[in-house]
Amino acid sequence: MSTPNSSARKSAGKRLEAPDILKRKGAEPLVSLTAYTAPMARLVDQVADIIIIGDSMGMVLYGLETTLAMPLFTMIGHAKAVVDASCRALCVFDMPFGSYEEGPEQAFRNAARVMKKTGVQAVKLEGGEQMAETAAHLVKHGIPVMGHIGLTPQAFHAMGGFKVQGKGKGRAQVLRDAKALDRAGVFSTVIEGVPEPLAREITEAVGNVTIGIGASAACDGQVLVTEDLLGLSPRTPKFVKQYADLNQAIEKALKCYAEDVKARRFPGLEHTYSDK
Ligand code: KIV
Repeated sequence: MSTPNSSARKSAGKRLEAPDILKRKGAEPLVSLTAYTAPMARLVDQVADIIIIGDSMGMVLYGLETTLAMPLFTMIGHAKAVVDASCRALCVFDMPFGSYEEGPEQAFRNAARVMKKTGVQAVKLEGGEQMAETAAHLVKHGIPVMGHIGLTPQAFHAMGGFKVQGKGKGRAQVLRDAKALDRAGVFSTVIEGVPEPLAREITEAVGNVTIGIGASAACDGQVLVTEDLLGLSPRTPKFVKQYADLNQAIEKALKCYAEDVKARRFPGLEHTYSDK
């Protein structure tokens, strides 16, 4: 059956895969963004090489304080919508807290379920050295893995909040984390909230593609939460550049609508059915 989406896919050509991303190491920086819904995925797909269906949706869409409570089945629904609405970017599913930490078998079981139900091409796991065995197991069984080190939001309570990582004594551990994931065979690593010299050293030391968020321009690519750069989030961290103020634009439009309804300016004749 030819759906609007499948014909868009045909004209867009082949979707990027993990090996295509890996080939871009050290070349033109990779563009990555988050998406959680079909309308945003359609827009993001026009510019992004990698779409991350992030558990940040817990905070951005569901108003939670941290990402910890996001259920796997809820994220699966969002990921299916994103994959179906995009045709060019590699789609990465961010495994939520509690869905992979028990060990390689739990991680494989849940990652395989995610891939079958959504069509994503890769999964992301938070954690470095302690997650390397699990990452290697997934890679060995055909699942491309993106790592996530430095500030790992699922470790919110262990870190004592969203805090910059890899300063002072913590520096050597973040470097060890990056190298362990590289040996495990990840195709990419998100480096979040670390100082520039460390991000640079990691990017030069590993063979996989580093994607920075609050980790300087020294990385092989960048990712931001799309709602943050659009001005739709209540709080924007220091590392976010805001490219639009959609909150203000939406507020203005909604006020105009409410005023029109109250003054009976809406609906007008052009929005009204006649019986002729
Ligand atoms: O949850 C998320 O959206 C993420 C990306 C920002 C990397 O982890």
